[in-house]
Amino acid sequence: MYEFLTSPALYDFLKGPLVWISFIVFIGGSIFRITSLLSKLKNVKIIRTYMSLKYSLRSIIHWIIPFASTNMRKHPWFTVVAFLFHICLIVTPLVLLAHNKLWYESWQIRLWSIPEAVADAMTLTVIFCVIIFILRRIIAPEVRFVTFTSDFIILAIAAAPFVTGFLAYHQLFFDYKLMVALHILFGGIMLMAIPFTRLSHMLFFWLTRAYAGSDFGAVRHSRDY
Ligand code: HEM
Ligand code: HEM
Repeated sequence: MYEFLTSPALYDFLKGPLVWISFIVFIGGSIFRITSLLSKLKNVKIIRTYMSLKYSLRSIIHWIIPFASTNMRKHPWFTVVAFLFHICLIVTPLVLLAHNKLWYESWQIRLWSIPEAVADAMTLTVIFCVIIFILRRIIAPEVRFVTFTSDFIILAIAAAPFVTGFLAYHQLFFDYKLMVALHILFGGIMLMAIPFTRLSHMLFFWLTRAYAGSDFGAVRHSRDY
């Protein structure tokens, strides 16, 4: 198994075709999920009549700014952890020097990178936040009640690229080649899981908020935040 995971042929496959497959499934799958939902909604007259740009934006803005909704103010610690988690999760891979070197090697695209110590801190923040999410799902009775095995799998999918990326960078345990191979594999799994699992909330969050915001604003004349 170890020989297989560190073989040059597997590494070439992971670094080449697997990265392509991951990005194609992520982007293609996301477009497919959004367009198929929108085409189903096209025929739902009640939604078409009361969707409002003003109330959609009002809701989205209140839900993407920390503490701008009542629910966030009621759970301040969870709000801080959830925002830190999402900011570091999305920003780190985009501004990571190791990733940007790969973009440059393949496409001569030069992207802006952050210092490696900052990337490390952001990586550890994601891992720390996932540990909090796991503990919350085990300890808090109101969350445990609605927690299934799939919730832990989703958290593992989100954490795995960060754990393996950190271990590869620091070469703490195991062989460097093995860790990079696992990292690319888990990075690809995470990207491909986004359109087809609960991680698709990244795509549908905006639509859900637009719908709830329009319903509350234009129909009930109240607020959803
Ligand atoms: C699928 C394509 C990907 C490739 C080819 C790739 C490649 C790499 C490489 C070569 C490293 C550096 C290891 C070293 O220092 O030598 C790295 C580090 C890292 N990657 Fe990726 N990666 C991918 C996807 C992802 C994804 C999807 C995420 C997170 C969402 C991610 C997060 C990280 C992090 C957090 C680190 C290390 C940060 C630290 O310095 O502590 N990567 N990646
Ligand atoms: C810009 C895009 C995104 C938005 C707007 C967003 C928004 C949200 C919101 C509102 C929640 C619920 C927090 C609560 O329970 O109050 C959430 C939870 C979560 N998000 Fe995202 N998200 C985004 C992208 C992502 C991505 C890319 C991932 C991972 C690949 C991710 C992973 C998670 C996880 C694991 C949780 C659940 C934590 C738990 O309770 O177990 N999110 N997100």
